[in-house]
Amino acid sequence: MTEKKELRVFSGVQPTGNIHIGNYLGALKQFVQLQEDGKCIYCIVDMHAITVPKDPLVLRENILDVAALYLAIGIDPKKATIFVQSDVPGHAELSWMLTCSSYTGELSRMTQFKDKSRGNESAPTGLFVYPILMAADILLYDADVVPVGKDQKQHIELTRDLAIRVNNRFGDDTFVVPDGRYLKEGARIMSLDEPSSKMSKSAENELSRISLLDEDSKIKKAIMRATTDSDGEIRYDIENKPGVSNLLNIYSAFSGKSVADLEKQYEGCGYGTLKKDLVSVTIDALAPIKKKFEEVRHSSELEAILAAGAEQANEIAEVTVKRVKGKFGLGS
Ligand code: AMP
Ligand code: TRP
Repeated sequence: MTEKKELRVFSGVQPTGNIHIGNYLGALKQFVQLQEDGKCIYCIVDMHAITVPKDPLVLRENILDVAALYLAIGIDPKKATIFVQSDVPGHAELSWMLTCSSYTGELSRMTQFKDKSRGNESAPTGLFVYPILMAADILLYDADVVPVGKDQKQHIELTRDLAIRVNNRFGDDTFVVPDGRYLKEGARIMSLDEPSSKMSKSAENELSRISLLDEDSKIKKAIMRATTDSDGEIRYDIENKPGVSNLLNIYSAFSGKSVADLEKQYEGCGYGTLKKDLVSVTIDALAPIKKKFEEVRHSSELEAILAAGAEQANEIAEVTVKRVKGKFGLGS
């Protein structure tokens, strides 16, 4: 019998501050679960963060914040590799080879680019080619599985298209074609004040999101003020009751209870009761994360973990870059 290859998992989060419960419930929670299932490589994608101008000192702090959050949510550096993207030159190298394998038409169709550039001529080129760098991140590590939120689905599809296109040209041993992994509850957490748009790190209204390190009083305020509707019934109905459905989704993802069970539990109750309970469920879920974050954020352990992670990541990346350069005929 042939030995089954170990599952390879790769994902990344941008170091842009305000990591929120959408990031956690959509992506980060899966990072922890998958540690038991295969070799996991989790990146802090700082090169993605500079697609829009960033204060260098703030960026540095945000990188360490995400690294500490990875540890705080339960990623174990003995089981998973944690590293910073720009510490591994292979990302930029492979990104160029993929850029030359991509079409401007397919990049123009990316909704994230369309939303962020809004047809503006001075939109940064980095925003336009961002999905190619993301494809390079994934393909560099021969990843089988990529745990992400649903908003990344289009980028994952592009990654697959690029991998298949290059494989058709140079052979199936060039790239592993990866699959996205999305959770049912949590895949798309919506903004608390405007439940028709997704919860985002950059929205102006602080009460639109709950960040993982928010104080209890802020968590309470954001949930108690969350937009609902006037029909008064606690029922999951994304189309007609997006606010209440979002609260049920968050509740379900944090508590492990199904949405159907929650609907039964809260039958005949008012929105105030649901919100009050969700406040305590959320506060209880985030308390251990905040505690661990404080312990590790300024420890010397953190930089050592990133240095070791970069070394492990580089080892894998160098092999891939060499292989793919060879396919293209690059190098001396
Ligand atoms: P980012 O911070 O944009 O790099 O996102 C990190 C991860 O969080 C990605 O896998 C996203 O798909 C996921 N994510 C971001 N916003 C949300 C949201 N509102 N709901 C669910 N997942 C999200
Ligand atoms: N584009 C992702 C986001 O905005 C972040 C990201 C960059 C990523 N490279 C990745 C996610 C590779 C998964 C795999 O959320």
